[in-house]
Amino acid sequence: MIKRWLKARIAANERLFEQYWHVKLKLRSARKLVYHWYDVSRVGRHMFWGRMQGQTQIQLQARLLFYYHKLEKGMCMPGAKRMFGGEAADHVMRLLLAWEAKGFPTDDAIYRGALDSLLAYRDCLVALSLDKQGAVTRRVSAFLAPPRWPDSDAAAATTPLRLSLEHIDFERHRQSLDELYRIRRSFRDFAPQAVERSVIDEAVRIAQLSPSACNRQPCRVHLADQPAIRDKLLAYQNGNRGFGDTAPLVLMVTADMRGFFDASERNQPYVDGGLFAMSLLLGLQAQGLVSCCLNWCVAPSADKAVHRHFGLDDAEAIIMLIAVGYPKAETLVPLSHRKHVHDVVHRLEAVA
Ligand SMILES: Cc1cc2nc3c(=O)[nH]c(=O)nc-3n(C[C@H](O)[C@H](O)[C@H](O)COP(=O)(O)O)c2cc1C
Repeated sequence: MIKRWLKARIAANERLFEQYWHVKLKLRSARKLVYHWYDVSRVGRHMFWGRMQGQTQIQLQARLLFYYHKLEKGMCMPGAKRMFGGEAADHVMRLLLAWEAKGFPTDDAIYRGALDSLLAYRDCLVALSLDKQGAVTRRVSAFLAPPRWPDSDAAAATTPLRLSLEHIDFERHRQSLDELYRIRRSFRDFAPQAVERSVIDEAVRIAQLSPSACNRQPCRVHLADQPAIRDKLLAYQNGNRGFGDTAPLVLMVTADMRGFFDASERNQPYVDGGLFAMSLLLGLQAQGLVSCCLNWCVAPSADKAVHRHFGLDDAEAIIMLIAVGYPKAETLVPLSHRKHVHDVVHRLEAVA
């Protein structure tokens, strides 16, 4: 009552009204500092590993990937090979020992990948006679001895992949990709038909093929396929009004910040998350599903509430939600005009 009266008085006086808005906008932008603080403090909590020793399973996975990817990459570099990777191989072995000491599962894909890469690396050193003293080769061979790796002399490593482009039909790929992209639109109306879990799993398998920094694969997909859960989640999001409740399924894409080492990587969860989300959209589209990305431009309070309500770890950054369903026989979608290509492409020149 008093507020309304005050507002009416201010509105009646033009100068006062102007000053009121000036102060209001300043306060509003000051409040946004809270958003920055929220981001900075999460980076501090989850990405500064010096303090945390980096020994949880997800941190060990990330460190293993970081180091064994150096071995994989080293094997694929062009030009004449010189000795490489000795230090990285020692890191990998040390991390694998830490993994085993913690009792983490030894059928884990990253654990197995690290062993596979060590084996390939050892074979590469031997085949190209790179390790003149043989010390690294001996250390790796001893490490891979049974029971850790059944028979490292007989088993061939699966990395690196040898790709022969000779028989790849690039024109066919271009056409199907073009078609897939053209029909991928944001749908805001869905058929009521439920979405099978197997279709989502297949789309996630495709999304898993997206590139990620050092192959650390920080993304996860949370499914809201029960109407009450979906509605609760969508209540925190501001762009689904009028259609969110027609989506039989809402996905929440997150990226785990614990896969990154320090503040220099602060944006990486969002970069990897965006690439993953795009592939996920196409993976859905390729199987006849349609989708609409839903922004996660929320206040820290809403972000925290969703973490709390659904039991998400604070280290999981929410990248976006995606409404998913089957299309109706006919649907209207915005054309969503695109900028001209020449407005997007810019050739770099040195100006200073
Ligand atoms: C990260 C992201 C967030 C989005 N958030 C919303 C949203 O909250 N509500 C909505 O209706 N559309 C949302 N969209 C869809 C965009 O409006 C849409 O992608 C854009 O207009 C281009 O249209 P198209 O997807 O049909 O090609 C979002 C898209 C992205 C990539």
